[in-house]
Amino acid sequence: MPCRLFRTRPSEAAVSRRRDARIPLPLLTGRRASVTCRYRCGDQCSHQPPNPTTNAYFGDIVQQVIDRRSLLKAGAVVTVTGAATAGGLTSAAAAPPARPGRPGNGLDFTPVEPNTEDAVVVPEGYQQKIVLRWGDPILPDVPEFDFDAQTPEAQERQFGYNNDFCAVLPLDNRGDRALMVNNHEYTTEEFLFRGYDEDNPTEQQVRIAWAAHGMSVVGLDLGDNPPRVVRDDEHNRRITLHTEFELRGPAAGSDLLTTPADSEGRRSLGTMNNCAGGVTPWGTVLSGEENFHFYFANADQVSDPTTRERLARYGLEGGASERKWERFEARWDLTRHVNEPNRFGWIVEVDPYDPQSTPVKRTALGRLKHEGANLHVTRDKRVVAYMGDDERFEYLYKFVADKRMKPGRSAHARRHNRTLLDEGTLYVARLTGDSADEIDGSGSLPSDGEFDGVGEWIPLAHNDESFVDGMSAEEVYVFTRLAADNAGATKMDRPEDVEPHPHTGRVYAALTNNGDRGTEGEAPADEANPRNANKHGQVLELDDDHTGTRFTWRLLLVCGDPEDPSTYYGGFDKSQVSPITCPDNVTFDRHGNLWISTDSSAALGFNDGLYAVPLEGDERGHVQQFLSVPRGAEACGPVLRDDFTLVSAQHPGEVDGADADNPASNWPDRGDSRPRPSVVAVWK
Ligand code: FEO
Ligand code: CA
Ligand code: CA
Repeated sequence: MPCRLFRTRPSEAAVSRRRDARIPLPLLTGRRASVTCRYRCGDQCSHQPPNPTTNAYFGDIVQQVIDRRSLLKAGAVVTVTGAATAGGLTSAAAAPPARPGRPGNGLDFTPVEPNTEDAVVVPEGYQQKIVLRWGDPILPDVPEFDFDAQTPEAQERQFGYNNDFCAVLPLDNRGDRALMVNNHEYTTEEFLFRGYDEDNPTEQQVRIAWAAHGMSVVGLDLGDNPPRVVRDDEHNRRITLHTEFELRGPAAGSDLLTTPADSEGRRSLGTMNNCAGGVTPWGTVLSGEENFHFYFANADQVSDPTTRERLARYGLEGGASERKWERFEARWDLTRHVNEPNRFGWIVEVDPYDPQSTPVKRTALGRLKHEGANLHVTRDKRVVAYMGDDERFEYLYKFVADKRMKPGRSAHARRHNRTLLDEGTLYVARLTGDSADEIDGSGSLPSDGEFDGVGEWIPLAHNDESFVDGMSAEEVYVFTRLAADNAGATKMDRPEDVEPHPHTGRVYAALTNNGDRGTEGEAPADEANPRNANKHGQVLELDDDHTGTRFTWRLLLVCGDPEDPSTYYGGFDKSQVSPITCPDNVTFDRHGNLWISTDSSAALGFNDGLYAVPLEGDERGHVQQFLSVPRGAEACGPVLRDDFTLVSAQHPGEVDGADADNPASNWPDRGDSRPRPSVVAVWK
């Protein structure tokens, strides 16, 4: 039995309230709570996927598309590449400072059992502590959090809502101080405010939500385990929907990015729906703006057909927005600021070491529903960013920088390196299976024993040069999905985190699920997305030449109940693994193990969690669950260090039928408190 630290019994009153409200537990719903879908992504899985192309699936891809494109142009781009081999590579995912650690392969824990506890459940012998909760003050002169006395002014100085990605960056050479950077992906107003009226939000509620989005930077004292937040650290910072950002790279200054508030198209306000991210070797954080589409109103009143098509390709449709922000600020209304959505959907780069710095939106990395971006640096210091567009039937991308990285953290090197993501080549992936004629959508393993094949990176644009017929370079960067459609990219099952391994350089992509795969009118299963109506997702492993255009690939995991014959756990004995479903974030420990956090384990009837998977030798594919997060929560943002692990427990208690008046979780404050998204530290 796993130990269940940090669990207290809910009060009798709370139990009875829940019973009365007939709140279904996630295990009864068999899917992510619909309230989460609604506030996180505008319920996009209940809409038609916005990718209308017939882009295929593998081998028979669209010869006419290839013919349309200029192969000559493609060849020209290949010449920018440099040679790199998997050995001896460096990566952005630099190992944390050496501290007392896990022995052996780092997996000295007894896996926790799948469960539906309203608690973080960790292995026997491990301890846990809350590091930071929604509403905790991180700047001076702000009151302690009071659920019933929220103000926008306080929220702008408190930890934001629904923390997702988490990063820890060193602040001194001894490893005693660090900075923690977190994304605040979205707000769930029904859980923030008692009696929330979705048709008539108040201006106060809207302004609180604006302040609860964005990112946080806080100082950490690592002198004693567990890490402690330094509330008066000079680096502490909140970034919200009203923080000024600079637009940089090839689309900056484009007419497509100008608005009545910014005639230059170079300054925008805020970041939102920040999901996952990565850390650069030069000490900045990359963060992905994901489901920006459903914050905007009145797409149905836009008359220009080209603009309508572009909006629709990103899922912007209909009249009033979910949160009705357009009533309080004109930029959310497409009839008044039609280009404002073009200023979201980017990878943003934040320098946590300089709280006065203006964060940057890097247009060279394309505009998608960005999950995040993670870097690989080749031996000859070329920088490659790997990225996923998280929606059903969207694509995998990479960006290869033109210039080489300067080593070290000198002011000169940092200044240079902060320009690397502004010039380079943006590619989209096409995958071809080697057993394509055996793929029937059932998930049956092909006769060669693997879901595997080869792939090609198709160049879309290089700085001011477009490789897509009929689109300028600026259009490729701002409407990257349309460019990738044109290029014949492979439709994937919701690409989430895509991250290169710090030792081997292999690239791992979480493809979280796609219930529409193989349904009427949609792309059928293919070897990389081998199951129709895919509820459980898969993890893809690429051997990429990084700066070149070719790769090989295989599926490491085909997730789901190990007893389900359509699942595959890297060839490991499935009777010994922890069941895993809906992989979302990936990272690595110092020993080279892959760690995966999940979003939507309700698909298997239990809470989400964090899992470790060895990648080499006899243990390859041996998935072991390290922890689980509370009821209704998603596990994300994992940080794996020798001295502690951090995990984000996002949207605890987000269960259908629950709200601020009927909480389904009292984590972490217990009693009759409302749930608070939090960062949790776990250590042995
Ligand atoms: Fe915000 Fe793709 O998860
Ligand atoms: Ca095969
Ligand atoms: Ca995610």
